[in-house]
Amino acid sequence: MIISLLSLNYEDLKKQLLPEDKIVLYSCNACVKACGIAGTEKMDKLAEMLISDGYNVIGTDLISIGCTANLIEKRRIDMQKKVMYDAATVVIPLICEDGFEGAEHVFKDKKLIPVAKTVGIGNFTADRGVVLTTPFESTGLALNADGYTISELADQLNLQKEFFDSACEEKQNNKSISLKVNGEIIQTDKGENLLTACLENGIDIPHLCSHNDLSDYGACRMCLVKIKGFRDLAPACCVEVQEGMDVCTVDEELNECRETILELVMASGQHNCLTCAKGIPSPMGACELQGLIRNFGIEESSYDQNIDKLPEDSSSPVIMHDPNKCILCGRCVRACEEIAGLSNIGFVNRGDKTAVVAGLNVEMNQSACAGCKVCIDVCPTGALTEKVLYFSGSEWTPSRKYVEL
Ligand code: FES
Repeated sequence: MIISLLSLNYEDLKKQLLPEDKIVLYSCNACVKACGIAGTEKMDKLAEMLISDGYNVIGTDLISIGCTANLIEKRRIDMQKKVMYDAATVVIPLICEDGFEGAEHVFKDKKLIPVAKTVGIGNFTADRGVVLTTPFESTGLALNADGYTISELADQLNLQKEFFDSACEEKQNNKSISLKVNGEIIQTDKGENLLTACLENGIDIPHLCSHNDLSDYGACRMCLVKIKGFRDLAPACCVEVQEGMDVCTVDEELNECRETILELVMASGQHNCLTCAKGIPSPMGACELQGLIRNFGIEESSYDQNIDKLPEDSSSPVIMHDPNKCILCGRCVRACEEIAGLSNIGFVNRGDKTAVVAGLNVEMNQSACAGCKVCIDVCPTGALTEKVLYFSGSEWTPSRKYVEL
């Protein structure tokens, strides 16, 4: 993983902008996101901050791998993005220095503002987060097997510790909607969806198909909540917050619904986590489905197990597709369209024959897949995994069960 930190603060960024600029922000969704300086959330935050300071942000764009110049070029001429990029006078890419070089080739006619300093190669650790183990010579830092944390690097190299942090905090205090959740008053931004509002306020609502970087979908119904005045249970991920809303996110009835959904999902495919590569912790998280099953204490589904075994697709050099672990949440379909800009993955068939396929139902290597792996990053199960990790299995601790005779 390439390690980058922010090289300037918000005030320095604003000094490079003019009130008449038409600004586009785009963000890589790979290493820099893990380093905490990119991704949809950070990009949207920066856009909102600039807008509230009177700047003209005309659009944002998320790109799966920002250091791939071809991918940026593709977005630049994509039918849906072309108008936005053509109109921009300033482009602020939230990408590493390598990605910035690519951007300079693609946006020759625009003013580009670099925001990141790339300092070397590192990896993700479960206890210390992202660490730099092999610094570039230019940093003057010694090799460090334990790795330098982002905070240590910021101190030693005079870089920013967090994403435009002081300005973000100001914005955080500027919440404008109040609602009641489980009897507690919380505040959030106008236009936010209820699921995000609750999660940001430390109220956990189980969810599967919803993802921060993707559009709302409302397929899995795990996030069902009760809202005063609503006749039915409502999916929190698809409900916009309203002033004074009164919400209940957890009670016996809701838990029963969620358990039933999980048991149906478990019965729908082969969710054997012992051999699944999604068991390995990573910056993108391990298997979300297994996490929920464990949290709800479900040992086995009370529904008949679907025993049909669908063929796995190992044709791609980087992606392993096991449709038996797919829960049809649609995250990969949306990510391929909304982040990679390819729309290469889609649904076929109806009812219990519905499946996710590549291209026109061909093997992955016969389709337009670019191998960007964004589908793997968002998949909440082991249906899409890194080929090199396939069958690597999850960590588990054996324990002895005593049976009374
Ligand atoms: Fe809301 Fe799936 S997370 S319906």
